[in-house]
Amino acid sequence: MNLTEAAKAVRENAYTPYSNFKVGAALISTSGKVHVGCNVENVAYPEGTCAEAGAIAAMVAAGDTQFTDITVIADSPVPVTPCGGCRQKMFEFASPDAKVTLASLSGETVTMAVADLLPGAFVKSQMDRA
Ligand code: THU
Repeated sequence: MNLTEAAKAVRENAYTPYSNFKVGAALISTSGKVHVGCNVENVAYPEGTCAEAGAIAAMVAAGDTQFTDITVIADSPVPVTPCGGCRQKMFEFASPDAKVTLASLSGETVTMAVADLLPGAFVKSQMDRA
């Protein structure tokens, strides 16, 4: 199963009673394993988690800390774009040139690098004087 198919499949499991906006994410880690995640909402709205965060958490739980490719998919009019928090999460667990594919269910895709999604990322070296 490729990343688009995996993201589309896990999207079906998204728990979205509040937004009704299902998102799926699938990534491949440096050890070659595929990990998936979907958004999981909560009645206390800020407690919800994004699909990308779920896929990254699954990767870390399985013992990997870097991915090379991630695909995110939703039923959006244009390919879904990750929120700011997820951009920072992706930056933590991928090299700047890792590939991010944004997709819509209707088949449109946009591909970019992790670094393109988060210009001016907060990085560890900024804490060098701490
Ligand atoms: N959401 C994601 O899971 N990933 C994205 O890239 C964009 C937004 C979720 C969060 C929330 O459950 C719903 O979509 C609406 O914001």
